[in-house]
Formats: sequence, C-alpha cells, structure tokens
Amino acid sequence: MAVQSVESSTTSSDTAAPASTSPSFGPAVALSCRECGERFDLGPIFACAACFGPLEIAYELPTGDPEGLRRRIEAGPNNIWRYAPLLPVPADVADTPSLNPGFTKLVKADNLARELGVTGELHIKDDSGNPTHSFKDRVVAIAVQAARAFGFTTLSCSSTGNLAGAVGAAAARAGFRSCVFIPHDLEAGKVVMAAVYGGDLVGIEGTYDDVNRFCSELIGDPAGEGWGFVNVNLRPYYGEGSKTLAYEICEQLGWRLPDQIVVPIASGSQLTKIDKGLKELIQLGLVEDRPYKIFGAQAEGCSPVSAAFKAGHDVVRPQKPNTIAKSLAIGNPADGPYVLDIARRTGGAVEDVTDEQVVDAIKLLARTEGIFAETAGGVTVGVTRKLIEDGLLDPALTTVVLNTGDGLKTLDAVAPTTGPSATIRPTLDSFREAGLV
Ligand SMILES: Cc1ncc(COP(=O)(O)O)c(C=O)c1O
Ligand SMILES: [Zn+2]
Repeated sequence: MAVQSVESSTTSSDTAAPASTSPSFGPAVALSCRECGERFDLGPIFACAACFGPLEIAYELPTGDPEGLRRRIEAGPNNIWRYAPLLPVPADVADTPSLNPGFTKLVKADNLARELGVTGELHIKDDSGNPTHSFKDRVVAIAVQAARAFGFTTLSCSSTGNLAGAVGAAAARAGFRSCVFIPHDLEAGKVVMAAVYGGDLVGIEGTYDDVNRFCSELIGDPAGEGWGFVNVNLRPYYGEGSKTLAYEICEQLGWRLPDQIVVPIASGSQLTKIDKGLKELIQLGLVEDRPYKIFGAQAEGCSPVSAAFKAGHDVVRPQKPNTIAKSLAIGNPADGPYVLDIARRTGGAVEDVTDEQVVDAIKLLARTEGIFAETAGGVTVGVTRKLIEDGLLDPALTTVVLNTGDGLKTLDAVAPTTGPSATIRPTLDSFREAGLV
C-alpha cells in the first residue's frame, strides 16, 4: 500500500529525518516539532531540543485505497481501536488490556435544535458514555500503550479531575501503578472517581497550573524516574487519542464532515487534535474535502483563549481561574496559540459564557435531550447558543456540539437550583395539595 506523510500545517518535510518504524507505534514514524519541523525518534519526550516547541506524532498513513481502509475500519471493534491504522499503537492493540473507550453516541438533538433555532442538523457527541465518563479515556488509552512501549511502570498526570480518574482506571486495568495529582479543591465526584481505582491520589494546594508545574519538576527528579506522565512526557501520544472524536463524528455522520463543531477548551489539546483528525480524513480520501469551522468554548471565569481571540492577539495571557467549570480551569493553556490559529484558519471563533449560563445550558440539554452533562458540556451548549445569537454559527448547517463529561461528577453545579417538585405525605390528598395535577 502506498504511504504518505501526514503532518500538521506547521511542520516542514524539508527537515524530515528518514522514517523509522516500530511495531509498537504502528503507522507513527517520528516526533515532529510543531514550531520548527525538526524530527526526533519516537521516545518519551515532548519538547523540541532545538527550539523548545511542542512535539507531535508524524505518520506514514495508508493512502491509495480509501475504500479498503473504510471497510477495514468498519469491520473493527466498537471502540477507538477500529482506528488503530491511524494511531500510534501496535496493530494488535485490541488484544491488550484496555478500558476500550470510544464509539460513544452521536445524538441527533432535534429538540435542542428547535429551542436554539437551528434549522440544519444539530448533533451532540456524547462522550459521557466512556468507561470513566469523560473523553479522557480516549487520550489515556493511547498514552498507556506508549507507557508500556517505553517500559514505564507508574502512570501519572496533572489533572483538573477527569484525567485523574481516567488514569487511575486505565492503570488498574492494564496493570500499572498510578499516582495522580489534582488541585485540592475539586468536586467530590471527581475526587472519589480518581481515588476509587486504588492508585495514589495527591491533592495539591494550588491551581491546576501549580499542579502542572509541580509535575514538570517531578519528571526531572529521581522521585519521578520510571513514571509516565500521560499529559507531560507522554503528551504527544496522549493528544492523538482526541483524533478519534473527529473520526467517530465523521463515520457516524456517514463519512461526512460536519460544517461546524463546538469544542471545550482547557489546555486546548483536544481541539487541535480534532482538527488534525479531520485533516487526516480528508487527506486519506475518507471524507469529501470541503471547509469546516471549529469553535472553541470556555467559561468566562477562565477564558484566556477566548480573550486573546476577541482581542486579535496571537499570544494567550494567563489568567487565574474562578469558575464552576473546574474541568476547564487551566489558566495557562499549553495549546492556546494553536487553538487561535485553528479557529481563525477555519473561520470559527472562541467564545465564553458565565457560570450562570453554564448551569442554564446543562439544564437545557437535560430537559430537551435527556443528556446530563458536566459543566464542560454546559460550556459548549451555552457557547453554541451565544454563537447562534451573535450570528457567528450558522443555524442552517450541520453542527456537532461536544459533551465531554458526565453531570453526575459535577452535581454541585446544579444542586442549588434543582430538586424535588414537592415533598409529600404518602397520600393522594397530599399529592393533590402539592398542585402538580
Ligand atoms: C470534561 C472535559 N472536557 C474538556 C476538557 C479539555 O481538554 P483539553 O485540555 O484537551 O483542552 C477537559 C480537560 O480536562 C475535560 O475534563
Ligand atoms: Zn523545534
């Protein structure tokens, strides 16, 4: 089968080193710097030795027979491993112990569409259906494969909550020790989920950005030797897991690109990899090549990327987060500048909503479609509504809105304004008095 390198728009093939293939990493051939294009052998590294730019995976993907590739994917398992030919994982990955995330529901949200004045197709990609109830199971599954290939024995991460649970569970299943780090003041649902799988959970007195800085120090210290930090030294591999959201959305739309997609932003990794996944599908001939727009969504109380987008800046000025959308509370997002590039290049935008709008949107999605989203889902639905009102998102087109997590983990967000319609004695009279009939 013919092969073709597929790289990000910022990499240069002029500097490409000869491709090195390893059975552990399937079609992945190198790490490539997103800033200067310098290439490195696949390894547990994440920053360019020449310019400190972030590294990402470069591939030799199977081109030349899109029909054959499509058939192979469709015959694969009902999880992310159906896309193994496009991921940095071994061909027999489906046989290794994993939580097997992915292939979550794409829900056609006609009731929500009516409420929002959408006349085109509106879909919710509902990633709350993953094994630990957030999209993080996708990225962790790929990082676990890399950790195994590099001989790490402990899995770790800095997390805003969901990632810690995903790492704890995946480590338990795959036979790693785990030790994960979170800000000390997260929601009870996130803390319990991160601890229940039996690994070590450490709360740090500080924000996520403090936790992340601490983890970077730990990597360079003998105390962190042999540790695979899924979103730090394994970040190039981890990020690729988010491409599967793009693949699934297109496959579930009948191998069709959506016109518009609304993605939550914390570090920005997910949004950049969804763009990478969509570009790959076009280059491989699996979907028709036509324009799509990517929109980023943040909470106002942590909106560094949205603020930069609106100000027309290329750099993202860090913020100190203060929002109920704690899963998105990264004040200094590593991929912020790349998100700005993608939103501008595709004709999308980055927008933010208040905490009150987040809660309203969680309830709107629950009441119209029966989907209970975590605060990050409230952010995307709330931003979608605002983008339509502002004329930035076209209500006549096909739009996909991501719900990346489960409302059961962020009950506190809606508990103050949600509860029983009445509490009654167990008698018909008492029920009638309650005024519900
Ligand atoms: C539920 C949820 N959605 C979205 C995100 C954003 O991810 P990223 O850091 O890739 O932007 C996170 C990150 O923690 C999350 O927990
Ligand atoms: Zn570089």
